[in-house]
Amino acid sequence: MKYINEINRRKTFAIISHPDAGKTTLTEKFLLFGGAIQVAGAVKSNKIKKGATSDFMEIERQRGISVATSVMTFEYKDTLINLLDTPGHKDFAEDTYRTLTAVDSVILVIDSVNGVEEQTKRLMEVCRMRDTPVIVFINKMDRDGKFPFDLLDEIEKELNISLHPLTWPINSGKEFKGVYNLYDKSLNLFTAGQKSTEENSVPIHDLAESLLDKTVGERNANQLREDVELIEGVYGELDPEDYLQGIVAPVFFGSAVNNFGVKEMLDTFIRIAPTPEPRHTSIETDIKPTDDKFSGFIFKIHANLDPRHRDRIAFLRVCSGKFERNKSYHHVRLDKDVRFNAPYSFMARQKEVIDDAFPGDVVGLFDTGNFKIGDTLTEGENFFFTGMPSFSPEIFKEVVNKDPMKTKQLEKGLRQLTDEGVAQLFTQHGGNRKIIGCVGDLQFEVIQYRLLQEYGASVNFVPLAFYKACWITGDKKKVEDFVRFKQANVMEDKDGNLVYLAQSEWFLNTERQNNPDIQFHFTSEF
Ligand code: G4P
Repeated sequence: MKYINEINRRKTFAIISHPDAGKTTLTEKFLLFGGAIQVAGAVKSNKIKKGATSDFMEIERQRGISVATSVMTFEYKDTLINLLDTPGHKDFAEDTYRTLTAVDSVILVIDSVNGVEEQTKRLMEVCRMRDTPVIVFINKMDRDGKFPFDLLDEIEKELNISLHPLTWPINSGKEFKGVYNLYDKSLNLFTAGQKSTEENSVPIHDLAESLLDKTVGERNANQLREDVELIEGVYGELDPEDYLQGIVAPVFFGSAVNNFGVKEMLDTFIRIAPTPEPRHTSIETDIKPTDDKFSGFIFKIHANLDPRHRDRIAFLRVCSGKFERNKSYHHVRLDKDVRFNAPYSFMARQKEVIDDAFPGDVVGLFDTGNFKIGDTLTEGENFFFTGMPSFSPEIFKEVVNKDPMKTKQLEKGLRQLTDEGVAQLFTQHGGNRKIIGCVGDLQFEVIQYRLLQEYGASVNFVPLAFYKACWITGDKKKVEDFVRFKQANVMEDKDGNLVYLAQSEWFLNTERQNNPDIQFHFTSEF
């Protein structure tokens, strides 16, 4: 328990949302509160507006220069907050899923006009798999959105989580008057275009007070009284334990662009959000942050897009003990010792070399090709962290090498890009066909571009009509028979696991029925 004070002051989380719901804006407001930036507009949106590769490359190039946007560390009221950035574009969803393995909680932003959107559902599924605690921020209350009760209903149903409002809005759109804080019973008044200040906050300890009618008008006051009575009747008190277990999500209403309702959420966040949590491993026991020996895992690898420098930055989440500069650590997969003389942190949005880091922290490590996503570093022990599955891709394409003279370069490029987690590579079992699986088409363009720019390999992709990849396990003999019969559809993933590519849902269901002794898994961890 040597580092208990350091551990207890840390909170590591991510903001997730469907693109355009307001993640970038909210991030920026948080950084303003943390004093990490001084002016609005300082956080670059990582949005890909036109969906073009050139945009992506441009963004990546900018980020390559300032990798600091991947992790933003700031202090707020003595809490050290590590905010991990997630790409907004759906084609890079896998990157987001992996980042979610490195956080202890998330804030989910929902646009009050659009409600639950496609990307929100998928992100939440990943959070549900890990029981990650979630706080919901319903944004854009300055616009005419859905009725708050309808929104709560929709979120509960669509995202399969119970909600618990901690603030409540008075109207929305042009009539938006502010939010009532159900926890400390005060009213925060909204003025469009103005930052909320202490003066905008009116304590209303008893909703029957006539001050409420004076402040927001009689009709609004009565509506709020009715709403609050209903909410208190239905929801009662929030049990922080239910939040920490991922069963109940506290809800805040506000407007990120107006910096309204944000501070209430941030104050609650630092009060209730989890400090660094234990992590599952390949051995029976979990690794606790308070364990004395250092351990951590790589959840993201950021390539340097300058072709003259093939070095990369691997992002390590510290899980236990103390990480120290220049100390030797055990790279479990490669079974060798590694040392880092210039590990980064991302304090105040500046990359700076650090001497040590504690559980919950994210450290950037220079990598010359030693790391794959999911790699574990320890102080000599032989275990690895689990809980970082690959999911079935949605689009499959076969790699066609356009320049046989560059076969070696292509192999190397594909291997390295797969290590980085840019895409999943499937190699034909007992053969040479290579199939790349991605979540979105944009990723293929990025791969094609990078293979050429960084490795000099020129490729085409031929679309394949596969519906899903399933990892298969089961009785050895049965699996062998299956593989023989279905040769054209059986591949190996990057770790040599067998994967069945199904042409359609019908085919998959048929194979499952015909092969009751084989298990078909939708993720690579089972
Ligand atoms: P994202 O990272 O989730 O993709 O969303 P982002 O913060 O970039 O916000 C998307 C758009 O929504 C931005 O407008 C932003 O200004 C706007 N926005 C964010 N919060 C609010 C809010 O509380 N109320 C209203 N009305 N709008 C909000 P944009 O026009 O796309 O970009 P910009 O030119 O304003 O930057």
